[in-house]
Amino acid sequence: MTDHANTMWGGRFAAGPDAIMEAINASIGFDRRLAQQDIAGSRAHAAMLAATGIITNSDADAIREGLLTVLSEIEGGDFPFSAALEDIHMNVEARLKEVVGPAAGRLHTARSRNDQVAVDFRLWVRDQCDAADSALAAVQKSLLGQAEAGADWVMPGFTHLQVAQPVTWGHHMLAYVEMLGRDRSRFADARRRMNVSPLGAAALAGTSFPIDRHMTAQALGFDGPMTNSLDAVSDRDFALEYLAAASICALHLSRLAEELVIWSSAQFRFVRMSDKWSTGSSIMPQKRNPDAAELIRAKIGRIFGANVALMTVMKGLPLTYSKDMQEDKEQVFDAADNLMLALAAMAGMVADMSANRDALRAAAATGFSTATDLADWLVRELGLPFRDAHHITGSLVAMAEKQGCDLPDLSLAQMQSVHDGIRADVFDVLGVDNSVASRTSFGGTAPVRVREAIALWQEHLG
Ligand code: ARG
Repeated sequence: MTDHANTMWGGRFAAGPDAIMEAINASIGFDRRLAQQDIAGSRAHAAMLAATGIITNSDADAIREGLLTVLSEIEGGDFPFSAALEDIHMNVEARLKEVVGPAAGRLHTARSRNDQVAVDFRLWVRDQCDAADSALAAVQKSLLGQAEAGADWVMPGFTHLQVAQPVTWGHHMLAYVEMLGRDRSRFADARRRMNVSPLGAAALAGTSFPIDRHMTAQALGFDGPMTNSLDAVSDRDFALEYLAAASICALHLSRLAEELVIWSSAQFRFVRMSDKWSTGSSIMPQKRNPDAAELIRAKIGRIFGANVALMTVMKGLPLTYSKDMQEDKEQVFDAADNLMLALAAMAGMVADMSANRDALRAAAATGFSTATDLADWLVRELGLPFRDAHHITGSLVAMAEKQGCDLPDLSLAQMQSVHDGIRADVFDVLGVDNSVASRTSFGGTAPVRVREAIALWQEHLG
């Protein structure tokens, strides 16, 4: 609480804000996470102000040095953040004044907190795109390790969570490698589009000072300055693109996590989580719970929630800056923290889990999983139309179901009672190994195709 006007902008204010006003207005509680980006932006700005003759070199040098001092104080963890100073921008500037004296007052020339926060936040989100990319690569590597180990292990492939056709473990793992590859390209796209600098848009209209926006853009690693000052301080689509990419990524993680939850159950036993990635129950000694997978499955809730929240904050805002936009940060921070945690947990859990080859194989043979292979055989060997073959196979499945056995357990005579052209070599395609080995079409589940795909990903992931 303050009883005096704000020292940064309080010229026309006689009194300080109401305590509740200060509480709702201040963002320092969370935007302190932008300290490093704020200081990088200010240092680039000060260097440009000197290069263009707007401030003296000695003032710029003092400011740039002083900002490093402030940064090390913040990183040291004992910086006295003040809610009265509202946000990270004014906290840094106020401290800079204490460190370097009056020169600090020249830093804000040709700049506003509107372009300042826009640049800070862009830099922060850009870093998160890079962080997500490396974390995703780590998950891909874990999955690839699993795929390599069991490239030709047979397991049931499901549709509707009903056994459909046998597939290979390697193929199933690679499906997620592909999804996460697209996630990476979504973050890369978003990063490419966001990599332009709003700095120098000033409050909204640009400035009468002869600034060099290309220089600051370059110093901060941007491809160039944003071309419209009103747009530069207004939009948060870069954060929304990050959140959209994060949401889809979290959704993919959620699906994989769900499979791991199902697969690690006593009913499936397809995988066993290592001790490091399992938890026990406080009452049931036999339990090995897949808590990490469940929590990863849940993370989409808050991440997609953040996406919806920021979309809703931004909709209907007139140009240009409105204070509503201060509500952008916590959503993105929370989403990013949780995405990174989920990715790290997934990478570790997948690397450490062991697939149960026998259980996968046994399950692959259930549920008449080679019925399509039988129908295909009738088409290929007997020249039947696929629809007729489908019908005949259906009758054989019904027969097996009635007898409580699987398709390969029917005798040749029983098969011939449904269609007299069926020969003994039909049994070759009823085995799950032959089934998967036969699916050699591009992108198919045959081990030969899976090994090719593994080799390509290995080359790509290094
Ligand atoms: N804390 C503010 C935010 O996060 C910084 C920009 C303030 N700009 C202003 N015109 N009040 O959006």
